[in-house]
Amino acid sequence: MNDPGNWRVLAYRPADRAAVRWICAETGFLGEPQEKVVLDREVFADMWSAYWTDREPESGFVAECEGRVVGYLLGCVDTDRYERVFNQEMARPLLWKALRRGFFLRGKNPGYIYRMVRSLRRGEFKAPMRAIKHEYPAHLHMNIAPPEFRGRGLGQALLRAYLDYLRARGVKGLHLGTTSHNQQAVPFYLAAGFQEIFRSRITCYDHAVPDPPVYLLYFGMKL
Ligand SMILES: CC(C)(COP(=O)(O)OP(=O)(O)OC[C@H]1O[C@@H](n2cnc3c(N)ncnc32)[C@H](O)[C@@H]1OP(=O)(O)O)[C@@H](O)C(=O)NCCC(=O)NCCS
Repeated sequence: MNDPGNWRVLAYRPADRAAVRWICAETGFLGEPQEKVVLDREVFADMWSAYWTDREPESGFVAECEGRVVGYLLGCVDTDRYERVFNQEMARPLLWKALRRGFFLRGKNPGYIYRMVRSLRRGEFKAPMRAIKHEYPAHLHMNIAPPEFRGRGLGQALLRAYLDYLRARGVKGLHLGTTSHNQQAVPFYLAAGFQEIFRSRITCYDHAVPDPPVYLLYFGMKL
């Protein structure tokens, strides 16, 4: 077992990709394994890590403990660029891959997709993205796993490295999305100096948490 006290933060390297994808799936549902709501780690990791590892690796950081990657911060300096690249170049191949793998029919996935589409049609994900991107153009995703590595300062160190990186590039702000049920993430971001900039009731996870309501939250920080 690695000593959880013996860690360091490094710039992301292509060799970290598999570990990042594992952590991504392992934390995909409110900090817990994604299988609680959706099956297929490959498709899930493509959705939530591939742009950042493959198209903007220079904005990523990892926390490593005795040679093992146990945390990451995947960054993007310009969210407009992410949307352009993802929508124009990545979304269609990902859709085909999901179809080929039978993603849409597998186990609990039809229910997941139904709830996501229902929330989408109800406008529950409709954050004022134009204004958010204007004030806070960069964004991040960060996760640490296994859980014994949380609460030891890794998150703070990863965030510090990313903030330094953004400041050196003259970026004026950054944002991120999470949910009110993520009880590690919310206090972490508030303690780090983020402010809540948007909140919306979402119903797609009500079946999977013991105590709804769940809110989608956006946090922002000006640099
Ligand atoms: C959220 C997460 C990235 C935070 O990283 P971390 O390494 O656990 O956090 P740190 O140890 O650096 O904590 C820094 C500060 O955040 C606050 N904090 C962190 N975890 C907290 C918790 N569970 N409760 C209250 N405050 C907390 C504290 O102020 C802490 O400072 P302190 O230790 O001096 O009190 C990490 O816990 C994680 O990956 N959780 C699971 C996945 C997840 O939720 N990812 C975020 C998705 S949006």
